[in-house]
Amino acid sequence: MSDILAHVEAGVLTLTFNRLDKKNSITAAMYAALAEALATAKDDAEVRAVVFQGHELIFSAGNDLGDFISNPPAGADSPVWRFLHGISSFPKPVVAAVCGAAVGIGTTLLLHCDLVYAGDNAKFSLPFVNLGLCPEAASSLLLPRLIGHPRAAEALLLGEPFGAEQALEWGLVNRILPPGEANGFAQAQARKLADKPLTSLIETKRFMKTGQAEVVSARMAEEGALFARLLGEPAAREAFTAFMAKRKPDFSKL
Ligand code: COA
Repeated sequence: MSDILAHVEAGVLTLTFNRLDKKNSITAAMYAALAEALATAKDDAEVRAVVFQGHELIFSAGNDLGDFISNPPAGADSPVWRFLHGISSFPKPVVAAVCGAAVGIGTTLLLHCDLVYAGDNAKFSLPFVNLGLCPEAASSLLLPRLIGHPRAAEALLLGEPFGAEQALEWGLVNRILPPGEANGFAQAQARKLADKPLTSLIETKRFMKTGQAEVVSARMAEEGALFARLLGEPAAREAFTAFMAKRKPDFSKL
C-alpha cells in the first residue's frame, strides 16, 4: 500500500496521506509522489480540482524527521521544494480536509489551499523554532498576513499549537465539522468546483493571487536555503535526536 494514495473521480484528484503508523509524516519519496501528482494534474483535463486529506485522527505529523536527516533537501530540485512550488502555483482549486494533528508542513501547506475544512479535533502547530529550524512554504510571510503578527508570533516563535475554533476565527479554515464528515464534505465541495467552467475557475484563482505569486516564490526560496542550512546545525540535530530518543531536547549550550 502506497504512503500517498492518488485517486481521480468526478473531476477531482484526491491525494491521501496514508502512513498512519508514522502519523502520516512525510518522507522525500512521499514529497516526490505529491509533486509528481500535482505536475501531472496541472495539465490533465480530467482533473478540475484537487483534495488533500489524511485520516480522521491524523492529518500529518509534518516532515519525517529521520528521513530529513538522511535525505536532507538539497536545492530547488529536491522533492519537498518541488512539492511546495507545485502546490503554491497550482492553477486549479485545491481543497483540504484536516483532522487531528497538522504539524509543520501539515499546517503550512494549508496556506496554499483555496478551501480548508477542519475536523473539530484538528490541532495545528508550527514547531520550526523548537526544532532549530525556520518556517517553510512562505509561512513566515503568509501567516502574519492572514492572522496578524502577534498571533503568528505565538504560532511561529513560541511554536504553540492551536485548535480548530482558533483556526476558524483566524480565517485559516472555512468550516469545522465532526471528524468523520470532514473528508466527505471537502470531497463534495471539490466536486461542486469540478462542475464549474474550468477557465473561469483558473482565471479567478489567478486574479485572487495576482501580486502575491512572485513574493511567495521568493520567500519560499529564501526560507528553503536557510532551512537546508539549519538542518545540518547542532540545534536541529539535538531536536531530532531527542525526538527519536523520546526525550526533551537540551538547547542550553547552543
Ligand atoms: N517523523 C518521523 N516519525 C514520526 C514523526 C515525524 N515527524 N511523527 C511521528 N512519528 C512516529 C513516531 O516516531 C512513532 O514511531 P514509533 O511507533 O516507531 O515509535 C510513531 O510515529 C507514532 O508517533 P507518536 O509520537 O507515538 O504519536 P502520538 O499520537 O503520541 O503523537 C504527534 C502524534 C504528531 C503529536 C507526535 O508524533 C509529534 O509531535 N511528531 C513530531 C512532529 C514534528 O515535529 N514534525 C516536524 C515538523 S517540521
